[in-house]
Amino acid sequence: MTQSVAIVTGAAGDIGAAIAGRLSDDHDVILLADIDAGAAAATAGRLGPTDRFIAVECDVTSETSCAALAGRAAELGSLRTLVNNAGAARAVSLHDTTPEIWRADNALNLEAAFLCFRAVADQLKMSRGSVVNIASVNGMNVFGHPAYSAAKAGLLHFTRLVAVEYGKFGIRSNAVAPGTVKTQAWETRAAANPNVFEDARRWYPLQRVVDPKDVANAVAFLAGPQAAAITGICLPVDCGLTAGQAELARTFSQSEHY
Ligand SMILES: NC(=O)c1ccc[n+]([C@@H]2O[C@H](COP(=O)([O-])OP(=O)(O)OC[C@H]3O[C@@H](n4cnc5c(N)ncnc54)[C@H](O)[C@@H]3O)[C@@H](O)[C@H]2O)c1
Repeated sequence: MTQSVAIVTGAAGDIGAAIAGRLSDDHDVILLADIDAGAAAATAGRLGPTDRFIAVECDVTSETSCAALAGRAAELGSLRTLVNNAGAARAVSLHDTTPEIWRADNALNLEAAFLCFRAVADQLKMSRGSVVNIASVNGMNVFGHPAYSAAKAGLLHFTRLVAVEYGKFGIRSNAVAPGTVKTQAWETRAAANPNVFEDARRWYPLQRVVDPKDVANAVAFLAGPQAAAITGICLPVDCGLTAGQAELARTFSQSEHY
């Protein structure tokens, strides 16, 4: 029988690794695509057997690299799920954003999702598969990291573009927008302020930050049959951040109930 395959980009990172692990519940093979081949191999080895978790060196900003990744998926079976998860932010303010940073952040956080999708679109048509894009609350509101934010906002629109144009092939396209997730991407900020997660916590209605597993569960839901009628949406996995801020509600209402 044909094996079902999922691709997770940026899978050597904590969120990507959690998604890869979770998708293995209902996919036979997971391709862990990452620019850091050694880290991807280590993650794949940690997750399980080498015939189910396969590390692939891939630069998602390169068309050639995305084509090679697509070829690898086709060899292995029927590609059912593409998760565009690779992403990073390079500058914290517009003041610090050079044209190079602007282009690099857009290439990685927006254009790469387009390149990966294009490379596998025919395979997804055959499987009536789905795409899940890992966006961010930064694509919905302003929380710093401007070039990254603009790219993530573009990624949310790209999600809808795929949903509308490829829906006739049975392809679904959805996004997940995580709030703060404690991963290696926060290393520099945690070094500058060891209390950064404690400080962030107070802005979250659930009074905690997001765990990589929370993101992985949302991805598995959107990629799975229970979301068969859901396409073109953005699901915030943000412990309530985009719903509102209790501190502000307390100030505005002067009520102790917030
Ligand atoms: N950590 C958070 O607080 C947070 C919040 C919202 C959204 N996100 C998003 O979640 C996703 C994963 O974030 P993370 O915190 O796990 O990041 P991370 O830095 O821990 O992992 C990102 C991975 O992407 C890989 N990568 C970088 N450039 C690549 C390229 N050109 N080609 C292929 N792989 C590449 C890196 O090697 C790394 O393994 C990103 O899209 C990020 O924007 C993260």
